[in-house]
Amino acid sequence: MAMAERARIFSGVKPTGHLTLGNYLGAMRRWVEEDQHRADALFCVVDLHALTVEHEPARVRRLTRQAATLLLAAGLDPERCTLFVQSQVDEHLRLSYLMECTASDGEMRRMIQYKEKAAREQARGGSVRLSLLTYPALMAADILAYGTHEVPVGEDQAQHLELTRDLAGRFNERYGATFVMPKVTYPAVAARVMDLQEPTSKMGKSHARTAGIVYLLDEPEVVRKKVIRAVTDTASDVVYERGERPGVANLLDVLAACTGGDPERLAEGYASYGALKRDVAEAVVELLRPARKRHAELAADPAYVDGVLRDGAERARALARPRVDAAYRAVGLMA
Ligand code: TRP
Repeated sequence: MAMAERARIFSGVKPTGHLTLGNYLGAMRRWVEEDQHRADALFCVVDLHALTVEHEPARVRRLTRQAATLLLAAGLDPERCTLFVQSQVDEHLRLSYLMECTASDGEMRRMIQYKEKAAREQARGGSVRLSLLTYPALMAADILAYGTHEVPVGEDQAQHLELTRDLAGRFNERYGATFVMPKVTYPAVAARVMDLQEPTSKMGKSHARTAGIVYLLDEPEVVRKKVIRAVTDTASDVVYERGERPGVANLLDVLAACTGGDPERLAEGYASYGALKRDVAEAVVELLRPARKRHAELAADPAYVDGVLRDGAERARALARPRVDAAYRAVGLMA
């Protein structure tokens, strides 16, 4: 990267469920507050990735528009960054095929997320879609098509990013320098917000049980109820112990992320779980208030949102096209 050039950042969010507090604290907030200001940033609603498991077409479309609307509501500024929908830019699929031709069957099957999701799918008696296996090739294409330097994601994406780097290196070595080697960056605080009912697993948007998940569009009353009912543990004093007391630690992490404090220090201010939960609930409600309000305004104007996405897709296409064409030529295609 030349000194004067700004870093290019790419990240994506999958429209497989309503966006959660985990998405916001783990990723979106940093995109809004830092990344779009310091870098040449692209943010993508990766709808093609939502088709790797059983899906309802109308729901995917609705969640795709909702995710884009929420990203704008949270503060992504289309004048500062490029916001778009993956399926509106063909370059992702064009490059994904070349990534499938670069990756090996074995390395795809080693992906933890594939193994977990495939096992879950099989346990339900369903079949595993081939696209679930090849998902990381598409993800690598998402990133590499743009000459991305940095990918801000949650820690659960580490293995996919490592694979992306392997594929970039292998392709460059075989066919000549084509792709930039991307690096992953994780958020500093609350990288992983845990499920309030199951504090040892991530607050994921696609979980079936929703009592432990705070959605960005939950009404304040619903947020309060979910936080108050959060699982803690049998002790009653408030200390920060991630391993031993994951429920309380998660609440303290969320509070710290909302208020900018330090979880261990915050723990000292509480004598009971009840008081902690009340403060966490209010902090979360306040944190989400502006985005909820802005979302309601934007949702009333879908034509505006669609226009932003159309412009974003056009910009993205123009950025990706030359590099994907170069990759096609490099492997021997008549692009
Ligand atoms: N796999 C990511 C997730 O499950 C989503 C994603 C797809 C992504 N393509 C990407 C993230 C490219 C960053 C960059 O959250």
